[in-house]
Amino acid sequence: MRYLLFVDNRFRKEGLEELDKYGKDAAISLEKGGKYDLGNSIIMLSSSKSLKLKGKTIQPTFISNILPVSSILKFKHGDYDEIVRCLKKKLKKNISFKIEALNVNSVSKENAKSIEVKIGQELEKLGFTADLGNPSIMVYIVLAADNAFVCIAKKGALIKDSLDEFRKRHRKALINRAEFKIEEAFDAFDIDKKRLKLVLDIGAAPGGWTNYVSRLGAKVLAVDPAPLYYEKLNMKNVVHINKGAQDIELGAFRNIRFDALLIDANIYPSKSAELANKFADKLNKGAYLVLTVKIVDRKAAKHIREAKELLSEKYGSIKLKKLPHNRMELTLFAIRR
Ligand SMILES: C[S@@+](CC[C@H](N)C(=O)[O-])C[C@H]1O[C@@H](n2cnc3c(N)ncnc32)[C@H](O)[C@@H]1O
Repeated sequence: MRYLLFVDNRFRKEGLEELDKYGKDAAISLEKGGKYDLGNSIIMLSSSKSLKLKGKTIQPTFISNILPVSSILKFKHGDYDEIVRCLKKKLKKNISFKIEALNVNSVSKENAKSIEVKIGQELEKLGFTADLGNPSIMVYIVLAADNAFVCIAKKGALIKDSLDEFRKRHRKALINRAEFKIEEAFDAFDIDKKRLKLVLDIGAAPGGWTNYVSRLGAKVLAVDPAPLYYEKLNMKNVVHINKGAQDIELGAFRNIRFDALLIDANIYPSKSAELANKFADKLNKGAYLVLTVKIVDRKAAKHIREAKELLSEKYGSIKLKKLPHNRMELTLFAIRR
């Protein structure tokens, strides 16, 4: 069985280590580097057994997706006939499909969207049923050099259905890239937005996260010695404390209890965890913690271990994820015990 493994190049080693979760006794080997020109963040794997691609207990931190490869075809720019012929054999007319293409430096000069539309329309002409809203089958076409990797999976059967998170969040950021990170964290960790009435945001400047949660309707206490982009924020429900979080006297919060604590400060992960502990008693039971773990020196495993150890007394359900918009960092989620 062949698979495409999607893992950010910055966390390649950690991603490969994580593969064990998906195929306990499978012999997994990597296809020779560069053979298919798949770029830095996609690795072709061969496995002696089929991998278990999803399961309640499998929550990858570094792997963003694994696709089962059903065919590898040659194609030329603008000519997708062979791909259509292949899908004609593999799909069923009465079972709806959606195509997602990814063009990784291929000979096609077309963008992924236009390739999806062309192939989808050809299939519809042949009587197959496209459904972009709620398809039963997902078809992934990864184009690299002159190879097309055709991957097919039931909707919901993979780590996630959409390959291209960057395309999904196509809109322009109001303030900064950080806005996308918090949006991705809310999705990845299934955070219930309705529960957020009062949020403490530490390391809030220039205001991407504050802006995101304040637009959800929460009141936000934004802590940062640096300035916020006041003119872009909905300042009606944002109060800025112009200090480092370590200098805040907890007495000032007397009866206040927050529904979420967000920490995106650019400091050592252990320092962020200490701040999370400092403010833990000001959180409601069940409050969310979202904390950026900066991998300041490439020692990801060490920082993860330390952060978990420090947080585990006051927080449970700890999970970590390399989100699409994280660079040399991970996002940690936990719940106040
Ligand atoms: C990556 S930026 C945060 C981006 C922000 N979350 C956003 O969405 O715009 C890191 C911020 O952490 C702040 N910071 C660093 N140490 C801090 C501390 N001890 N207390 C509060 N803020 C801190 C810095 O001043 C900086 O503005």
